[in-house]
Amino acid sequence: MEIFRTREREEAYSWSSSATCVLHHNCIPVFVDIDFKTMNIDVNKIEEKITEKTKGIIVVHLHGLPVEMDKVLKIAEKYKLKIIEDACQAHGAKYKGKNVGNFGDSAAFSFNQNKCLCSGEGGMFVTNNEEIYNKAKMLWSFGETRAPLENRDYHAYALGWMYRNNDLTAAFGRAQLKKLDWYLEVQKKNAAVLTDILKEVEGLILPFVPEECEHNWYNYTIRLDMDYFGVKNEKRKFRDYVLKAIQAEGVKW
Ligand SMILES: Cc1ncc(COP(=O)(O)O)c(C=O)c1O
Repeated sequence: MEIFRTREREEAYSWSSSATCVLHHNCIPVFVDIDFKTMNIDVNKIEEKITEKTKGIIVVHLHGLPVEMDKVLKIAEKYKLKIIEDACQAHGAKYKGKNVGNFGDSAAFSFNQNKCLCSGEGGMFVTNNEEIYNKAKMLWSFGETRAPLENRDYHAYALGWMYRNNDLTAAFGRAQLKKLDWYLEVQKKNAAVLTDILKEVEGLILPFVPEECEHNWYNYTIRLDMDYFGVKNEKRKFRDYVLKAIQAEGVKW
């Protein structure tokens, strides 16, 4: 997880449910600061947060930019921790040529209404680990152990959830999957156009992509450089003014 410090107070900067899901499982999420340039978890600050209670590392490939996984993998190996990748925004994003979702013990992709691969709602859990797969299978539908295509006996063998998807959204998602490569190409081109235009605008901090990462451009994140604008305090107010100005220009929010 990541945390973003402002001068006013300490604030978590990531996606909310990547942390709250940990609480739902009676565990405590511990936040790690973000790297200012990438806005992803600062991989150099993970180790200092590890205690004997730590069970795993959740990395969020935020905005579609992969976390630098080499270091995370080394730390996980050293401390025998599991890695969960939150790849919900990062379909098709690559680290050192390999798609995210392939690095951790398990990963999650979202297919909700605004994701690169959209089936309306829902998502996908992936793992190469059979033990984890079997555990996930137990939780998937009220603790009944069957896999999606097996018959149901209505016996609950674990404290499960209701994570079943339905055939209609799955069919919709499969049709969308065929278009994914094309869609990501379009996003890449759009991002290049934006960079070309925005690099001329002073006071903006444009997305930074480390050499070994391939962004999927789910979000093209622009930040305002507070030093450039001379804003020392009241950053939130400044942000709200900027938002109002953008809305006044006709951008819908
Ligand atoms: C990084 C991240 N993790 C998790 C989620 C949750 O996904 P869903 O809305 O499909 O439950 C989202 C998006 O909503 C997200 O952006």
